Amino acid sequence: MNNLTTYTHLQRKSDDKKPVTISSLKKMKKEGEKIASLTAYDASFAAIVDEGGADLVLVGDSLGMVINGHSTTVPVTVDQIIYHTQAVKAGLQRAFLLVDMPFMSYADKHMALKNATRLMQEGLAHMVKLEGGELQVPTVGYLAERGVPVCAHIGLTPQYVHKMGGFKVQGREEAAAKQMIKEAKLLQDAGADIVLLECVPSSVGKAVTEALDVPTIGIGAGPDCDGQILVLYDILDVTIGRKPRFAKNYMQGSGNCLEAIQSYVNEVKSGAYPAAEHCFT
Ligand code: KIV
Repeated sequence: MNNLTTYTHLQRKSDDKKPVTISSLKKMKKEGEKIASLTAYDASFAAIVDEGGADLVLVGDSLGMVINGHSTTVPVTVDQIIYHTQAVKAGLQRAFLLVDMPFMSYADKHMALKNATRLMQEGLAHMVKLEGGELQVPTVGYLAERGVPVCAHIGLTPQYVHKMGGFKVQGREEAAAKQMIKEAKLLQDAGADIVLLECVPSSVGKAVTEALDVPTIGIGAGPDCDGQILVLYDILDVTIGRKPRFAKNYMQGSGNCLEAIQSYVNEVKSGAYPAAEHCFT
């Protein structure tokens, strides 16, 4: 027998980890354990994100920017998300697999059901994520009633970038903050299992988290959300160019990618991340 191989094989260090489910995520909220989440786009990175202890992995449409080099997430297609989800799924053992519904793939509730079904059957996703507030309540209800787990993404919704005129912090004015809390509750009541908040003042992240029974996951939404998520390439300092305020380079002080991911997970769990410099007021 020789040990020759063509490419490095994915090696799983242990097979005995209990998979994270929506029930475990809800239990974490109840017990005050922070949910550590990261994006991933391929099997090799998914395996180390999983090994590093992330509870939830998102195949985000951010892949359009960090993998394909577009300046927005708008060009991403359902087929591309499925391709990357299949790869990520192959690398995961424990983490919960959330995937983005890309731009215009849920323009009406029937289209949403058709595409969510593809993401779950072909991509093997555990849950789909879609952007938008009150307008998406009927779609979230329609999917949830048919057994599709849904994460509602509110605050800064990057698929609306051309409509919003840029990537801007949301919910700074009192009326907008109140509307966001109202929308989060409506989405939860329609059946959303997770609410993701992007780029909102920490006070809004806190108020939404306190108003909901389902977990909130924040990105630039302050320390009080039930969990945090970042784009993997930001924490590994892969992306060249301007970094968002909430990004933190975990390669600093780490010997390799696995250590950087473990350090991120530990900081989310302990509450050390996000610090004030990663938050908006
Ligand atoms: O596409 C993405 O990566 C996201 C973020 C919330 C991380 O939606």
